[in-house]
Amino acid sequence: MPSVDLQLPHHRYSIEIEPGALSALGEKVRAVAPHDVAAMVIDENVADTHAPAAKRSLEAAGFEVVTHTLPAGEAHKTLDAVRELYDVFVKHRLERKSPVVALSGGVIGDTVGFAAASYLRGVPLVQCPTTLLAMVDSAVGGKTGVNLPAGKNLVGAFYQPALVVEDINTLRTLPDRQLRCGLAECAKHAMIHDADLFAWTGHHVEAIMSRDADTLTQLVARNVAIKASVVMADEKEAGGRVHLNFGHTFAHAIEATQFSSTSVTHCKPREPGRPDPGPHEHGEAVALGMVAAAHLAVGADRCDASACARLIELLNRVGLPTASDALADTDALIGAMRIDKKVADGRIRLVLPDRVGHVTIVEDTPIDAIRAAWERLRVT
Ligand code: NAD
Ligand code: GLY
Repeated sequence: MPSVDLQLPHHRYSIEIEPGALSALGEKVRAVAPHDVAAMVIDENVADTHAPAAKRSLEAAGFEVVTHTLPAGEAHKTLDAVRELYDVFVKHRLERKSPVVALSGGVIGDTVGFAAASYLRGVPLVQCPTTLLAMVDSAVGGKTGVNLPAGKNLVGAFYQPALVVEDINTLRTLPDRQLRCGLAECAKHAMIHDADLFAWTGHHVEAIMSRDADTLTQLVARNVAIKASVVMADEKEAGGRVHLNFGHTFAHAIEATQFSSTSVTHCKPREPGRPDPGPHEHGEAVALGMVAAAHLAVGADRCDASACARLIELLNRVGLPTASDALADTDALIGAMRIDKKVADGRIRLVLPDRVGHVTIVEDTPIDAIRAAWERLRVT
């Protein structure tokens, strides 16, 4: 069973990756948080499929399990959801040693993570990601938080989990659209750090999409190893962790303008696999954001056009968007980029590719170049 150790100066935890891992969840949680009551927070899309096995395993290990279901979808990654969780934790008398298990995708992981980080100034958090995106990215590395109407992830905390348990079999029920979104973050890891993984991913798209368990296990383990190594070198994003934001300043602007054009409260959870092009899921926005960054890098003579073409080819092969007719107008998108967390001293800081497998942080990109990159993304 692949297991990746994430070792920080004052904390270490393991990320355990295995088909069927949820059936042994209870004993693993008991080893890191030996308390009687465990809270398990899920969303409705895993309630009948994966939550029962996790609950059975926790109960078999002696936990009294309080299960709470939040509505699914980015529109519910809010302070209201966090407040709802505090009420549940208080009602069931969770203590400092009571584990809180987050089971579903990155929305649940980020929201529950922030509630766990702040309730009683921190209770043990166990991440059980069930989307590819959450397995390779959001469940690892300790970024937790929620959205504000003004933008994505504007409230949050760095709070490392006590344990991460990744059951590859849960990906069998994941809609194709969500699997593709996870592949956007995998393409990101490969673009920033690993040209060999980039080629490997391109060769294994079919096996991945057909949910071949060995291929998925390798894919997840290789990506988790990259994410863990970046976090170990720079936990709080003072240096190299910024590379993980490749494509994200553009992506967050796409997502933030989707919120404001529909308003968060009216942005209902969407049917996975729905054919219409927008609003974009997070992974789709990341794919578009990486392409925008690559266009920008080519236009600034920082990157060979062939690297941009290879990125577009991989994303197309996966079935991710590389252009869109669902973008807000360019001024609104640039305005949204300015309130991204990565803005420093009022300057938009971007991560741009130099080639497949390597990126650089660029501090002061001219607005005209950013504008041109947005225009290249539009379907004409
Ligand atoms: P998500 O949590 O919305 O999950 C996508 C959909 O899949 C949801 O409807 C969910 O209910 C459903 N689902 C989950 N597991 C399933 C399964 N096994 N079978 C069927 N359906 C399932 O989205 P996501 O893509 O997992 O995560 C996106 C979020 O993660 C965004 O909010 C993004 O900002 C955040 N994120 C955080 C970090 C971080 O470092 N903390 C990194 C990347 C992304
Ligand atoms: N997903 C970006 C990070 O964890 O830093």
